Amino acid sequence: MLRETSATRYVTPLREGGSLPGIVEADDLGTYVMKFTGAGQGRKSLVAEVICGGLARRLGLRVPELVRMTLDPVIGLAEPDQEVQELLKASGGLNLGMDFLPGSLGFDPLAFQVSAEEAGRVVWFDALVNNVDRSWRNPNLLVWHGDLWLIDHGAALIWHHNWPAATASAARPYDASDHALAPFGPDLAAAAADLGPLVTDDLLAETLADVPDEWLVDEPGFAGPDAVRAAYAEALAARAPTGHDRITLGAPTADRPSRAPGWLTGRPERKSGAAR
Ligand SMILES: Nc1ncnc2c1ncn2[C@@H]1O[C@H](COP(=O)(O)OP(=O)(O)OP(=O)(O)O)[C@@H](O)[C@H]1O
Ligand SMILES: [Mg+2]
Repeated sequence: MLRETSATRYVTPLREGGSLPGIVEADDLGTYVMKFTGAGQGRKSLVAEVICGGLARRLGLRVPELVRMTLDPVIGLAEPDQEVQELLKASGGLNLGMDFLPGSLGFDPLAFQVSAEEAGRVVWFDALVNNVDRSWRNPNLLVWHGDLWLIDHGAALIWHHNWPAATASAARPYDASDHALAPFGPDLAAAAADLGPLVTDDLLAETLADVPDEWLVDEPGFAGPDAVRAAYAEALAARAPTGHDRITLGAPTADRPSRAPGWLTGRPERKSGAAR
């Protein structure tokens, strides 16, 4: 069960995020990145955050803690920005909070070294949840206290926008050529061997229990929240054993950033034009 918190002060919008998340303070004296039910991306992106964030944390990947966060839109009354005011007005009630990592930096593949083992685990996980939002253009990775942290899973689980195709999607290839961690030689075999067996029915059920009923209740074609949870569990269970075989790490697109010099990364430099 995700912890319950309540927003007490809206601090500032995070303008770089497409869904206009905001930094808020809460009644537990914590600071959170709040993602709003009233944002254009809709509730399903919050469902994806809860499922993917919870699954990643249970698999031992670093994701900031997620909390249920209630909002009284009254806290936005003094907010001068009309876009923010409207978002807060449209988001009364239950929203999602993610522990804010103060002083974290956006991941820069040219300046931060990731081991093949860790890169493999992240790419394997992204294939499991079909996350296409971790490219080098928009890595959705933070570096905090010298470690890599995963954020922003709102665009994953794409099949939940078209449930009849969910089963077939388990067999589709996952193209990781542009993945932010592709240049680090992801060890996918090790990740599949370590993480695959952990994705059990119990683990999925525990993860899905964290999704608030009110975000699942009116999903068309389902009898109720537990039926929707079962569909997510089935789709993820089907994907876990095949993930490794479906991942392709082909040639990256031509405009990928060049490699950082070895003196910066501590990695041996490759001659330009050498195969990856
Ligand atoms: N837990 C966090 N701690 C510190 N900064 C964060 C955290 N979560 C998000 N951010 C910052 O806020 C930005 C926007 O967050 P996020 O990517 O989750 O939003 P989004 O609206 O889903 O974005 P996108 O435009 O990528 O879809 C991030 O790029 C990062 O700079
Ligand atoms: Mg983002």
